[in-house]
Amino acid sequence: MPACERVLYGADYNPDQWLHDDAVLRNDIALMRRVGATSASIGIFSWTALEPSPGVYTFGWLDEVMDRFAQAGLRAFLATPSGSKPMWLSELHPEIRRVGRDGRREPSGGRHNHCLTSPMYRAATARINRELALRYAQHPALALWHIGNEFNGDCHCELCKHSFHAWLRRRYGSLDRLNRVWWTSFWNHTFTDWSQIPTHDPSIDGLCVDWLRYSNDQHVSFLENEMAPLRELTPDVPCTTNFMGTNRATNYWRWAGALDCISNDVYPMPDDRDDAWRRALSTDFTHSLMRGLAGGKPWLLMECSPSSVNWGKINKLKRPGVHLQEVLQAVANGADVVHYFQWRKGCGGCEKFHGAVVDHEGGDGSRVFGECAEVGRVLASLSPVVGFSPRRAAVAMIYDWEARWALEASVGPKAGDSGDRYTEACIEHFRALRTAGVEVDLVSVETDLSGYRAVITPALYSLSEATARRLTTFTEQGGVWVATYLTGYVDPHNLCWRGGFPGPRLREVFGLWNEEVDYLHDDENTIIRGDMFGRARETHALDIIERIHAEGARVLATLESDFHTGLPVILRHHCGNGETFYLGARLAEAGTWAFYEFLAAEIGLERTVLPRGVVRKCRVGADGPVEFLFNYNRRSVEVDLGPHTFHRLTDGQACRGTTTLLPYDSLLRGVSRLQDTETTAHRPIAQPIALQPS
Ligand code: GLA
Ligand code: ZN
Repeated sequence: MPACERVLYGADYNPDQWLHDDAVLRNDIALMRRVGATSASIGIFSWTALEPSPGVYTFGWLDEVMDRFAQAGLRAFLATPSGSKPMWLSELHPEIRRVGRDGRREPSGGRHNHCLTSPMYRAATARINRELALRYAQHPALALWHIGNEFNGDCHCELCKHSFHAWLRRRYGSLDRLNRVWWTSFWNHTFTDWSQIPTHDPSIDGLCVDWLRYSNDQHVSFLENEMAPLRELTPDVPCTTNFMGTNRATNYWRWAGALDCISNDVYPMPDDRDDAWRRALSTDFTHSLMRGLAGGKPWLLMECSPSSVNWGKINKLKRPGVHLQEVLQAVANGADVVHYFQWRKGCGGCEKFHGAVVDHEGGDGSRVFGECAEVGRVLASLSPVVGFSPRRAAVAMIYDWEARWALEASVGPKAGDSGDRYTEACIEHFRALRTAGVEVDLVSVETDLSGYRAVITPALYSLSEATARRLTTFTEQGGVWVATYLTGYVDPHNLCWRGGFPGPRLREVFGLWNEEVDYLHDDENTIIRGDMFGRARETHALDIIERIHAEGARVLATLESDFHTGLPVILRHHCGNGETFYLGARLAEAGTWAFYEFLAAEIGLERTVLPRGVVRKCRVGADGPVEFLFNYNRRSVEVDLGPHTFHRLTDGQACRGTTTLLPYDSLLRGVSRLQDTETTAHRPIAQPIALQPS
């Protein structure tokens, strides 16, 4: 993390768009101070402004910006400009432009479209980075390196193809082995020479997964190449790059180890018609993933919008109060830095209508500027929270890009509209757990699970022997493993496990055999019956069910429709000192929620049950926890805060006992307590209130 004694606050800053108007640049500094900003990411797309022709550097404008930052006590997250190539470089070396699956090379222009392999582009980025580091190594404003921008996608050029072949040779050693693990005798795909291997063929699903792995590795090595001169010349300045949550092409578990700190860009889409709570829980999922990637340490919210975006179908403004709450939600989840895209709206280009702190009008009188100034004020008051880690949960959920890629590459078995059935399953289970009042950490298949009471693995479609063994050991040693439909169908090559699903050899661990999968029409009402589903003892399945035989497991719920009637669908089994649970269907939302309420009661998970739409989050520091309490409702809600004193973050008002939370209210407890003697032991903040799944 950049050294910080307070929550850092700022935005992406593009002075290179305003070099023709120095008054604007000078005014920016004054406005930044007025809004309470501490920092900015500078010059993300400024390569040509820094190097207008090969080897000719024009750092003067950046010197001035950096000096002004230092004078104003602002910190610079200095960007490396690789996210967008200079036109002259792209014309001089067309091979640095990305090639699509169709073999067409992209024109110069756009952004985020460089070849991941080109030695020329790698050398050019390392060179400009070295120049930046040489020039600003000792500059007092330099606080962080912001590497490129939102790395993403893939390139199918000849250079990438050859490097893919080299990657495959290293991975498999021989063509024989590659042919075996890709099952290439199917449709006569057997390769007799490495050069025949394409970069894309959806009929070879092992290839699809390896291509994603390879492209991910190429991104990480591109990133490492960019960081090498920075680490050499500025070893004390941390490096980060801005992630995109659960972005498809980037297995961020692989990236996390390469970086000094984790940053993310989050744009929850405000919609005044939907349920802000459900949206907030989905955002919490992404924030939790960042907590996991950061190893439980604080992370950076590198981009969010202070008002609307301009790229959605319906770009709603955030209702008053929503933005402050979204920022605080990130802080409650461990963010120690909050930055926007963007500081100032440009007058041209395709993002001129994207939300910004400073509008085209140019001053500090706008509604959004006012809201941002309030955010600045509130964040300044949160300094005592900086460095606190989010509280570790008792329940871990695995989020695994490998399983996602394998499922995506397989033609069937999946259902529903989404292209990303895997992430959807994880978010559904996360939301249900949180609705049931249970906290969840997101972890990788390699995270040490000791200390967790339960691990949830939604749709862990591909499973290696090693992961299966680790999860089994966790369970045998007393843990609880909850798995769902689509578990253990394939190995890491996307080859089906033999011997019956779930594999590898997990039939004994779950005490069941999943023999077949059936898909449901949207209007098909497949009943699931079980005691856990409230008074009606019923819920229903959505779009996918498995036909399961119990092989020792206890049946907790059964399918009650069509020729599936009587088949077990939720099962529980002993495994060593622990237990497994298996959900062989995608359950309706209320059903999944009811299941986790049941699970929490059965295995003794701590729950914080609050009125609908009210959420608690904790961060823990050396002196104890601080607790945030959010009302995500558009209406006031009454809660019992018990004997503890909370403070409303907008006006500082003290609240205790029965309290009315205002719409989008955010409360905090524990900051003043850092000095007092109240016990630091965790206690639920309110008496559980019985909620009925709706
Ligand atoms: C991304 C990019 C920014 C900007 C925003 C707009 O997060 O990193 O440069 O394009 O989207 O929402
Ligand atoms: Zn390429």
